[in-house]
Amino acid sequence: MKLRHVIESQQFTVPALMELFNLADGMERIVARGGTGDYSNRIMALLFYEHSTRTRFSFESAMSRLGGKVITTENAIQFSSVMHGETLEDTVRVVANYSDVIVLRHNEIGGAARAAAVSSVPIINAGDGKGGQHPTQALLDLYTIHREIKTIDGVRIAMVGNLADGRTVRSLAYLLGKFERVKIFFVAPKTLQMKQDIVDYLQHHNVWFTEEEDLRKIIDEVDVVYMTRLGPLEREKTDPTRFYIDESLMKFLPKKSIVMHPLPRANEISPEVDSDPRAAYFRQTRNGILVRMALLASVLDV
Ligand code: CP
Repeated sequence: MKLRHVIESQQFTVPALMELFNLADGMERIVARGGTGDYSNRIMALLFYEHSTRTRFSFESAMSRLGGKVITTENAIQFSSVMHGETLEDTVRVVANYSDVIVLRHNEIGGAARAAAVSSVPIINAGDGKGGQHPTQALLDLYTIHREIKTIDGVRIAMVGNLADGRTVRSLAYLLGKFERVKIFFVAPKTLQMKQDIVDYLQHHNVWFTEEEDLRKIIDEVDVVYMTRLGPLEREKTDPTRFYIDESLMKFLPKKSIVMHPLPRANEISPEVDSDPRAAYFRQTRNGILVRMALLASVLDV
């Protein structure tokens, strides 16, 4: 599979997603044998304008497993020429001359699309702005559902937390909208519900969804609980127990269902849930390496 850029979830078709997941399955075998040297002549630049643990480390790890090299700036706003007022476009034009792919996390919605418009090498969107998109997270989330629930068609999922600003849930909703008979429960305080652009997209694609304000009401109806952070200010304004999962609530979650979270978590999943086999959030991070290896392989020519 050849990809030019990875900017938003909407760009993927279902056959392309299945091809990507097959490639990710193959990457598991490569990781098991300690990696490959196939991409030893390739350089990945990590350009992160915002903090990150998972996305940054997992892309670095993925490129290392493929045998490639990594150049990086930690906190680009502080430690690059952005300090001198350099535009994103100029930075990308320059870094593209030093690398074969740029993985970009930007602090503004549309940052990745702006970078792609001027870049001579592929751009991978590692998250853009508050309420933008995080397509590679959504791809690894969907891959986790595909592996653990064994089907995406017909899946019933509760997305919980600050859905208005959460770029992971936004990107995942776009991906799920491509499948058949999916049911989505958006569980959030009214002021933090999923934004109109996603609602319009789901309605246009005849995807079943509903808005809820209490996870406890619907937890026994879902295959996947996808938790996200609520935010400290929002927690003060609402009853956070409605967007919280602990051992006592896990009793109502069906036996074959799973709990996911893009991480980092704040106070929305009790640590006592971690030892439950249905807690999939750390397996999710492992799947992230495989999907990001597959994405890198798809954008890099060898
Ligand atoms: N899930 C995620 O994007 O985590 P980081 O912010 O640590 O990269």
